[in-house]
Amino acid sequence: MAGTLAATGLTTGSAPFVEEARNRGELYITQAYELYSQQNHEVWSSLYQRMQPRWERYANDHFLRGLDALNLPADRIPHLTDVNQRLKTMSGFEARPVSGYVPGFLFFDCLSRREFPTTITIRDHTRMDYLPEPDIFHDVAGHIPMHTEKAFADVLVRLGGCAHTAVAMAARVRDREEQTRRLRNVIRAMSRFFWFTVEFGLMRAPNGIRAYGSGLLSSYGELEHAIESSEVQRYPVQLEWLIHQGAEIDHYQPLLFIVDSFDHLFSLVEQLEHWMRDGKLNNVAPGLPEIAAGDLQSFLDAAKSL
Ligand SMILES: [Fe+2]
Repeated sequence: MAGTLAATGLTTGSAPFVEEARNRGELYITQAYELYSQQNHEVWSSLYQRMQPRWERYANDHFLRGLDALNLPADRIPHLTDVNQRLKTMSGFEARPVSGYVPGFLFFDCLSRREFPTTITIRDHTRMDYLPEPDIFHDVAGHIPMHTEKAFADVLVRLGGCAHTAVAMAARVRDREEQTRRLRNVIRAMSRFFWFTVEFGLMRAPNGIRAYGSGLLSSYGELEHAIESSEVQRYPVQLEWLIHQGAEIDHYQPLLFIVDSFDHLFSLVEQLEHWMRDGKLNNVAPGLPEIAAGDLQSFLDAAKSL
């Protein structure tokens, strides 16, 4: 059995080890490092090495310092235990291997505990440029270096805390239909915040506009496009705009928001939570991202358990 699993590797969409864990209902798993195939390591190596010059040119300094501090291997998939040893001492964060999709509330709850749900599979070599779902390159090379920066890590924790506020508020709404309606709006606002900052955020820097969003930092094509292309609209972030702005999926983002610093970003999360408490997130413009049934249910379940 182990031989069969090893032969298949841990490739996105074709990793029996992960699929079997999912079928057993296990969300948290081990990295099972020995199951990576040679081709899995080669994919990591190709992705990592072609990103390096682009990171140097377009990534913000915090990310570059994080890469140095973590000392991620360029030639093979990193061991998460090695990554965590360094990461924990820097910001208290740890990468926690998961079997796939993590329902919204559980995801934010992990962030509030300084855990980052991390995919262990890696994309197939025929799909180097675009992958709709996260893989270990996106999660570890794109996200984790940012988590070494204490100020950014604190933003994630605070955002995780917003999910607890959302649940506490939902628990006080007696009418089930109204409770669901409000939660849908609040989750959409939180998802857009995450999307336009943690995944696709830009930051003002002494050397120009630089990326700190992990969706950009893990994409060879989009990172350059986000900074250089005249087709991208880049605006100083405005929270009112951001929470009502529909996200775009399946192609490069045409509109991106710029923050001044991580302190600035932290103040935006605080404002988001104030608005939530004031009921200002109860009517957010419709549009993407879609709220998956599992995401909504996870918030409803958490509210019910209070
Ligand atoms: Fe991501």
